[in-house]
Amino acid sequence: MCGIVGYMGCQQAYPILIKGLHRLEYRGYDSAGIALIDSNNELNIYKAKGKVANLEHFADSKNISGTIGIAHTRWATHGEPNDTNAHPHVSQTGSLALIHNGIIENYAVLKKYLQDRGVVFRSETDTEVLVQLIGYLQQTNNCDLCTAVQQALREVVGAYAIAVIEKGNPDQIIAARKSSPLVIGIGEGEFFIASDATPIVEHTQQVIYPNDEEIVVIRRGEPLKIVNFENIEHPHQIKHIDMDISQLEKGGYPHFMLKEIYEQPQTLIDCIRGRINPEGTDVILSGVMDNKERFLNARRIIIAACGTSWHAALIGEHLIEELCRIPVEVEYASEFRYRNPVIYPDDVVIAISQSGETADTLAAVEIAKKQGAFIYGICNVIGSSIPRATDSGSYIHVGPEIGVASTKAFTGQVTVLSMLALTIAKLKNSIDPQLYRKLLGELRSIPQRMEETLKLDAPIRELSKIFTYARNFIYLGRGYNYPVALEGALKLKEISYIHAEGYPAAEMKHGPIALIDEEMPVVAIATTDSIYEKTISNIQEIKARKGRIIALVTRGNHEVARFADSVIELPETDERLAPLIAAIPLQLLAYYIAVNKGRDVDQPRNLAKSVTVE
Ligand code: AGP
Ligand code: GLU
Repeated sequence: MCGIVGYMGCQQAYPILIKGLHRLEYRGYDSAGIALIDSNNELNIYKAKGKVANLEHFADSKNISGTIGIAHTRWATHGEPNDTNAHPHVSQTGSLALIHNGIIENYAVLKKYLQDRGVVFRSETDTEVLVQLIGYLQQTNNCDLCTAVQQALREVVGAYAIAVIEKGNPDQIIAARKSSPLVIGIGEGEFFIASDATPIVEHTQQVIYPNDEEIVVIRRGEPLKIVNFENIEHPHQIKHIDMDISQLEKGGYPHFMLKEIYEQPQTLIDCIRGRINPEGTDVILSGVMDNKERFLNARRIIIAACGTSWHAALIGEHLIEELCRIPVEVEYASEFRYRNPVIYPDDVVIAISQSGETADTLAAVEIAKKQGAFIYGICNVIGSSIPRATDSGSYIHVGPEIGVASTKAFTGQVTVLSMLALTIAKLKNSIDPQLYRKLLGELRSIPQRMEETLKLDAPIRELSKIFTYARNFIYLGRGYNYPVALEGALKLKEISYIHAEGYPAAEMKHGPIALIDEEMPVVAIATTDSIYEKTISNIQEIKARKGRIIALVTRGNHEVARFADSVIELPETDERLAPLIAAIPLQLLAYYIAVNKGRDVDQPRNLAKSVTVE
């Protein structure tokens, strides 16, 4: 949440910073702001409520010159989204400007301390406390900016990625991080700062990922320096990143979400590439193979995740229990971290996260690590915090996911989980070799089946028109498709704002069936699987109460059409991999309903892509 970006070099900072903010806008879009130091050493700050475009509109006619600057796009935690609470925030004298991603937990105590000493606050944010404290310490102790930042951060409890600049000093930026992401780009005589690498890659591929409680001292004409709070210099490693810029553009699609839905056949290929051998007889996840004793001796597997990643985890539970016969528990990371969970040293804890930055999932990793469990990450963003905190893991390799609603990351996560289950099952000899080969073959044919599924775009768009004005939706599935029902409901609620719930189909009769009447659309996933007959009975129960049924069935099924209001026919797949196909029509349905309603599909209200606060 919140995107921070900074630049110092020979070029004009404004266009670089604005472009960077656009790249980071998925992280928050409550307000945007920018601070620049011009050639007269003046600090110019512009802020605007809402999206980056509003800031551009406001700032374009102002003095936006300068070769150093910092900028911010906000996802508000403390104080409503308005111009005053927008970052950058400034110190009492107006000499310092600071941007921040994170939460200062002890801001109230620090604010009181500063107010008692005459500091006057302008905003309601926790962030302002930080810049006021740095300014106060700099003045009181008559020290340089870096020392004041070191002193201030020693007092701070919470999470932060910050960048600070100082009026009269156009040659320095101080940045620091703890628990919030920060990447520094190093170009030819120029430096970039950002919450992730996307604003940096088009300028340089050389990056540094600072660690927690490190302060980055960026000075014009000097090599970058990283120090700790005691001013002891830390060595740093420059990493090379590779990212295809076209992945950061919409590429002709009206929304990133639609582009990402359509990318899935290719991202599936990217995800399995190099992991399934060319003959299709073997799958090797190196992260598992390099640690096979940990998996073979695992007492159980715990999977911690949030949101869509949690839904993928539920499918992983099913796959691992069925194929590997290892007990699996799936946990909401936010609950797990606070309930003193029982974790054994011979547990394997899998953390699933697209962004690799989700604060709750990261905290779950830290807790499990302290108790000696082996931690495995399944993430998308390379070099993000969770993969760096885990013992081993597998990237899903689906490329940058920009739409706030997760689509290709979900199918990537399920694909990695299925490869993980197959790898362990083979190691354990818990899978029949014939089934192993069959599933590998099926997995390799998923991209083709996804292509076929995407051809349903036009009928789903038509269908969406009928249901655009529905006030509620229910999604039903059983077995492997129950988590798909949950995911379908989440997609619809987050981008269309229609209330939607997912249930295991058989659970309806224990209460929720009371909601059914002729106005309730029910999306039922009834593809052919081992519990198909049972699912059909559950759908009949809905029909008997006049619910309006949209059924997802396996191609060639004519039975369901007799009582469903609409039928979507999907290519046949083994039930264990069916979620990879069934998810797609639900993504499209949510997408078109949201578009029909005129919603901001890629940046839905109140949400942010990367939830770095708890
Ligand atoms: C998905 O559509 C959501 N926007 C959200 O639930 C997301 O999956 C969740 O916040 C977890 O994010 P992560 O995968 O980056 O950890
Ligand atoms: N806590 C800061 C604010 O509300 C930053 C929020 C964030 O990083 O998400 O403005």
